[in-house]
Amino acid sequence: MDTIDWGHLPFGYQKTDYNVRCYYRNGKWGELEVSSSEFVNVHIAATGLHYGQEAFEGMKAFCGKDGKIRVFRWKENARRFRSSAAGIRMAEVPDTIFKNAIWKAIKLNRKHLPPYGSGASLYIRPLLFGVGAEVGVKPAKEYLFLVFVTPVGPYFKEGIKPVEMMICRECDRAAPLGTGHIKVGGNYAASLSAIEQAHSNGYANVVFLDAKEKKYIDECGPANFFAIKGSTYVTPDSPSILPSITNKSLIQLAEDMGIKSERRPISVEELSSFEEVGACGTAAVISPIAKIVDSETGNVYLFCKDGKPGPISMKLYHKLIAIQTGDEPDPYGWVDIVD
Ligand code: PLP
Ligand code: COI
Repeated sequence: MDTIDWGHLPFGYQKTDYNVRCYYRNGKWGELEVSSSEFVNVHIAATGLHYGQEAFEGMKAFCGKDGKIRVFRWKENARRFRSSAAGIRMAEVPDTIFKNAIWKAIKLNRKHLPPYGSGASLYIRPLLFGVGAEVGVKPAKEYLFLVFVTPVGPYFKEGIKPVEMMICRECDRAAPLGTGHIKVGGNYAASLSAIEQAHSNGYANVVFLDAKEKKYIDECGPANFFAIKGSTYVTPDSPSILPSITNKSLIQLAEDMGIKSERRPISVEELSSFEEVGACGTAAVISPIAKIVDSETGNVYLFCKDGKPGPISMKLYHKLIAIQTGDEPDPYGWVDIVD
């Protein structure tokens, strides 16, 4: 591990030493198991393979200046994980099992935690899927909950440098009464062709619109959308977007900086009235957006003057990172120390 260039880690999978697993069988959760294998042995008729009974989470652990390991808002992820499980009729993982598995996975892979100041973090990936065999379309009776960790750098290779995005009108990520509000694999499968199209056209990612009217902004690839209009932080209200914990945190930080917030439908045309625009999420943190292109209408929306991120986005970014790494006090109780 000594040879790792922590400052230039990509957002990708790197093998670590252990993962933690827990099975749900006969109506109850078993004991946590530690594994050093990167593989699982799955039944060929597992519902996770056939019918998309799969949900996951994304969280980060940070090494502070004091050497302590901090995990950001894990209870929110635990809650969303339960809601994802319930949404596709899987067994819900109790918070204590969720937390214990994460803590164990971090501690067992301590040497893979990127050092303070590297800009990198330890990404935590909790995963749940149906392992019970069914052929009819129905929920499995058995589930596997698994947590692995991997050191990561920024999701967008540009980091805090503003990116360009493309509005997608040819496909939808999630339907209004579908599963967009929970973190299930099917949503990501549905987003792949649009993301691939965006990449092949030179864009960092896709701005998805609401599936019903194709009029309002939903999300930016695997992140929420936000904008600064005057002295207000605006973010979409939509039934088909994932309730982002980062977005919720930024709203709180903005309000405490005296910036009002609005969660409401945002039409595509309104893009022209925004001073700053960005994508936010655990992986993306804040990724400022310089340009959004609507290939159908030919409209091009430009946001960053001189190619630089806007001042409010930067302020929010630095504040969030400072709380996550322990550089600044955490008045909200968002951070838990792994001891
Ligand atoms: N939207 C989607 C589709 C995502 O995959 C994510 C990542 O988890 C987010 C938004 C951001 O959510 P969070 O801030 O909780 O990571
Ligand atoms: C995250 O931000 O943690 C995510 O889950 C995004 C991921 C799909 C790469």
